[in-house]
Formats: sequence, C-alpha cells, structure tokens
Amino acid sequence: RQKERQTLHEAHAYAAKLYHYLLRNTEAGKPAMDYLRSRGFTDKLIEEFGLGYAPARWDTLVQGLHKQGFEAAEMERGGLLSRKQEGDGFVDRFRDRVMFPIRDGEGKVAAFAGRLLSDGQPKYLNSPESPLFSKSRTLYRLHEARASIRRSRQVVVFEGYVDCIKAWAAGVTNGVASMGTALTAEHAALLRRFAEEAIVCYDGDDAGQAAARKSIPLLEGAGFRVRVSVLPGRMDPDEYISANGGEAFVREMIDGAVSAVKFQLIYLRKSHILLEEDGKIRYLREAVRLVARRDSPTERELLLKELAQEFGVSLDTLKQEVLEVRKQEK
Ligand code: UTP
Ligand code: MN
Ligand code: MN
Ligand code: MN
Ligand code: MN
Repeated sequence: RQKERQTLHEAHAYAAKLYHYLLRNTEAGKPAMDYLRSRGFTDKLIEEFGLGYAPARWDTLVQGLHKQGFEAAEMERGGLLSRKQEGDGFVDRFRDRVMFPIRDGEGKVAAFAGRLLSDGQPKYLNSPESPLFSKSRTLYRLHEARASIRRSRQVVVFEGYVDCIKAWAAGVTNGVASMGTALTAEHAALLRRFAEEAIVCYDGDDAGQAAARKSIPLLEGAGFRVRVSVLPGRMDPDEYISANGGEAFVREMIDGAVSAVKFQLIYLRKSHILLEEDGKIRYLREAVRLVARRDSPTERELLLKELAQEFGVSLDTLKQEVLEVRKQEK
C-alpha cells in the first residue's frame, strides 16, 4: 500500500515535469502556449502553477513512464494511463489538454485536470479516484495556499481552476477551488482547521449561485462565518477579472462579499415578483424565516430594519413575526 502510494507519487511528479517541459520547450506545446497566452496566463503564472501540456498522441506518457521503469497496470490504477478500448495495452489518459497538477495534503502531485484547447466534452478531464486522490477530500491549491489562509484566517473558495489562478495573480493568495460545484462537509471541516471566515466566490450563473447557496449551511455547520461574492451577469471570477481588473475584483468581490444571509435574501428576491402585493408578502414571509435563523439578535435587528424600511412595514411587526418563527422552529 505505502509502497504503491510512493510509486504513484513519483510517477505523478515525473508526469508533471514532463507535461511542463512539453508545454515550455517543444513545438507540440506551441498551440497550448498560444491558448494560455490568449487567456492571459503569464510566464509567472505558468511556472507558479506548474502548468503543462499533454500532447495529442496516444503514448507520450506510456513511453515516458515505461522508460522510467514504471509498470503500466499500476499507472492505470493511479489514473495516469487508460486501458485500450480494444486489445491489450495502455494509452495516455490525458491527450491534447492543458494540464493543471493537483497537489495533496503532503504537497505532492496526486492528480491532474486537463483542459481542452477548444470546445468539446468533457471540457476538463480530471484524474479518477485513486489511491492518491479523493475528490471529496481534496481542494485544488489548499497545500500551497495554506500559509496564506492561516495568516488571514480567511479562505476564498472558487469553483474553477482558472478562477483560483487568476485570483492569485490579483493578490488573492488564500484561494482554493472545489473543482466543480460540490463542496463537501469534509472539505469544510478541513478548511476550518486554518480559518474562521469563508468567502464563497462561485460563478455567477444559475448553477454557481445555486451551489453557493448549498455551501452556506455546510460551511456554517463547520463553524465558519460565511460571506458570498455576488458576481454580476453570470460571469465567473476569471471573466470578472479580465473585464474589470484584479483591483476591482478584490475590492468588489472579495472585500465586498456580502454576508450569508444577505446573499440568501438576494437569492430569494430573484424568485419573487416584488411589484405585486402577494409576491411582496411571500418574499417578506420567507425573508423573515431566513432572518429568524440567525443566532445574533443584533444581526436580526439590523436586517429587519432594512426590510422594514424597504417595504414600509413597521419594525415591531417584523420582530413579532421573527419571534413566532423562532418559537415554531425550536
Ligand atoms: P466551469 O464550466 O465554470 O469551467 O467549471 P471554468 O472553470 O470556468 O473553465 P474555463 O474558464 O472555461 O477554462 C468549473 C469547474 O468545474 C470543474 C472544473 O474544476 C472547473 O474548473 N469541471 C468543469 C470539471 O471537472 N469538468 C468539466 O467538464 C467542467
Ligand atoms: Mn519552467
Ligand atoms: Mn460554471
Ligand atoms: Mn466558470
Ligand atoms: Mn471560466
């Protein structure tokens, strides 16, 4: 077991080096370099994040690993190679993709994500679950960001690899990516060892906002104070940074992230037609429910004041409703 893990770690380290070399120094890697440049990746970013390129042919890594003395069947279990569809033998799992190495808690490369240079499916191919890699327990960049997370007592959670990288370039060095939208309770507990505040900075599209909403009880359940970035116009953090610059991103989306309950109220608003009387009433009723769940009386009072003012209801009425909800939910 321990021996196999060590061998797989060595193979991943070798693959990361090879992919990086192929991106930086070969003709085959040129389209991938052009692609990265077109997306605003500087040399500094490519080096810091160890990006690479897996060529289109079927046996780049098969040959390389063989020469290094690694055994193909073991490499298949580690997720670096795939079994041939027909006949015996193995092929490279990642082909014609920009490669993002993913490090585990020990700081060793344990998996990869590979992005296509053009449209196609799947856009990102990730390593499968393996003796080294469990998606529900791994967060992209956690090892590298840990010191910064500890220092700031704050972690920023992104969906995407590129979001995490571009935010880093903008100065957000305490960012990790959940690699898609499924943050788990295990992720939350892991992060909680290093910080008290979590900022959820997911994509502005419906899927991202829905995932952000689901992550709130998960993170609060782990003991985090949670804030959420509300990205405009379905943008993701990378697109926001490209459009508005890194400084605006940090100011508006990180420093300007709203409290969990504010986000829930904004989210709730989208599904209610506030111009109509009964839409207003239904919104207020659900808003009061959200407020009632907050433990802090000060937070409840401040939120109720805003609601009272906006909807022209008395603060006392709203307070009364909150008390009733709190009684019911006890
Ligand atoms: P997105 O679809 O938002 O992609 O998925 P993205 O991060 O903005 O990618 P770019 O900017 O087009 O390159 C968010 C995250 O979901 C995971 C990846 O971790 C991705 O970064 N994902 C997405 C996959 O694992 N596989 C996929 O096919 C798509
Ligand atoms: Mn290099
Ligand atoms: Mn998305
Ligand atoms: Mn995205
Ligand atoms: Mn993107």
